[in-house]
Amino acid sequence: MDLLLIQSQEHDKLPLAELKAVIEVEEIETDLEVVCPGLVLLKSLDDSKFDDYYKLLVKRLGYTHEVHQVISTVDYSDIEDEVCSIDWSNYIDENFAVRVKRFNTEVDTVATERRVGHLILTNTEGISVNLKEPKSFIRVVAHQNTVYLCYGKYRLDKKYFELMKPHKRPFFHPGCMSPKLARCMVNLARVKEGDFVLDPFCGTGGILIEAGLIGAKVIGSDIDWRMKRGAATNLDYAGVTNYRTCVVDVREMKMYDEVDAVVTDPPYGISTTTCGEGTDGIFKEFLSSIEHSMKKDALLVMASPDSLDIDSLLDEVGFKLLERYSIKMHKSLTRIISVIAKIH
Ligand SMILES: C[S@@+](CC[C@H](N)C(=O)[O-])C[C@H]1O[C@@H](n2cnc3c(N)ncnc32)[C@H](O)[C@@H]1O
Repeated sequence: MDLLLIQSQEHDKLPLAELKAVIEVEEIETDLEVVCPGLVLLKSLDDSKFDDYYKLLVKRLGYTHEVHQVISTVDYSDIEDEVCSIDWSNYIDENFAVRVKRFNTEVDTVATERRVGHLILTNTEGISVNLKEPKSFIRVVAHQNTVYLCYGKYRLDKKYFELMKPHKRPFFHPGCMSPKLARCMVNLARVKEGDFVLDPFCGTGGILIEAGLIGAKVIGSDIDWRMKRGAATNLDYAGVTNYRTCVVDVREMKMYDEVDAVVTDPPYGISTTTCGEGTDGIFKEFLSSIEHSMKKDALLVMASPDSLDIDSLLDEVGFKLLERYSIKMHKSLTRIISVIAKIH
């Protein structure tokens, strides 16, 4: 069985990198095909694990908008015959809506939605159309001359990342990253349910929330007691229960328990303080102290400003760079996201 994913195009590499990381950490066996930017097929998924994989992807991914089960793939000229040959009672419960999404094609969206909806309705007993709040969602994706007829069995909570934006949480401080990027960084760190995840510059707790929501046990520390307290307030608000927060200056950090992943956004001295230390000084001290708190195979995923060369620091400490992405935030800040491993 196949899944079709519609991904965000707000960044050219991160959505796919995040997906590949989740496939790797959840050991999902599949052939991945990028149909075009924003459209990815996961092919040949094992029938017996299909539902579990589907739910995991929906639960975890930040930069993916929709995940659908592919019912059939057909040439656009054959769409009517194909729609009539499908037993839609397998997919539709009481009422439904058909929505078309186009990629590199001139297909008439409204006419196709109406035509497919009409054919489904006349060929299936006991169902009706409900465009506002359909119980069943049929997604038709048209790419060039190919049409994917899909069923949206599990839906991503599109409102979540909107509702969890930093200024909507009970404790706010400037310099927080978006929950989508925080989720993506947690995924890039190959975090699994039950893993220990540490953020030693936890600020308002944005990264801890995203790790907690995918089932990790999270530990957050910050030099500022107001952040420690605020992060706990935000974690409670997000419904994360398995967490610990403390006040620690990274420069004096002794060993934590060894963790499975470190995901963090250190201060750049722009909207968050480096407490008198230069930005490179903080990064240097952080990198040399954190290495001892990481398990052998643990990954470190961190953000840094592009003005800072962290590569020489990584070499000094015994880390190696695995992946790197850059995100232009505004005129004066490009954020670099690095995925880093220990050299054994
Ligand atoms: C960029 S913010 C983290 C933002 C966080 N990702 C969020 O979503 O709120 C950096 C944090 O590092 C903390 N910090 C600065 N110097 C520190 C140090 N020496 N040790 C630990 N934390 C420090 C600051 O108090 C600040 O909360």
